[in-house]
Amino acid sequence: MKVLVLNGPNLNMLGIREPDIYGKNTYEDLCNMINSYCVNNNIEVEIYQSNHEGDLVDKIQEAYFKKIDGIVINPAAFTHTSVALLDALKAVNIKTIEVHISDVDSREDFRKISFIRSYCMDSIIGLGFDGYIEAIKKLTN
Ligand code: DQA
Repeated sequence: MKVLVLNGPNLNMLGIREPDIYGKNTYEDLCNMINSYCVNNNIEVEIYQSNHEGDLVDKIQEAYFKKIDGIVINPAAFTHTSVALLDALKAVNIKTIEVHISDVDSREDFRKISFIRSYCMDSIIGLGFDGYIEAIKKLTN
């Protein structure tokens, strides 16, 4: 089982950016948590973060050629803007779960819009870093 975890813009700033919303733990902490869950559960995982929309599109396309079985994606701000990410996911047709650390539905109205949600098999919202583990569990069970 091969899983790709994708994170969008500013998530490399976890621990520094708006800790009241996203918590005090860092992006490295998030990667360590995902890696140790996957090692313990025999899941092959690749974790990737980019601040650039096209890089995320490239990574989704690459997942097709690498025969990735499932994608966990937190597109961050691109959630609310990106048709390109939606089209990339539709193109590769890999089962995907959307994750958001914060409860996007109880924040500004523009955060309630997700271009990728219609494609995703599930959306895990507002569980903090645990949301990523929940998503991996759902993809692999
Ligand atoms: C986020 C929510 C988005 O609205 C925001 O732009 C982010 C992070 C989250 O994980 O809660 O950067 O995706």
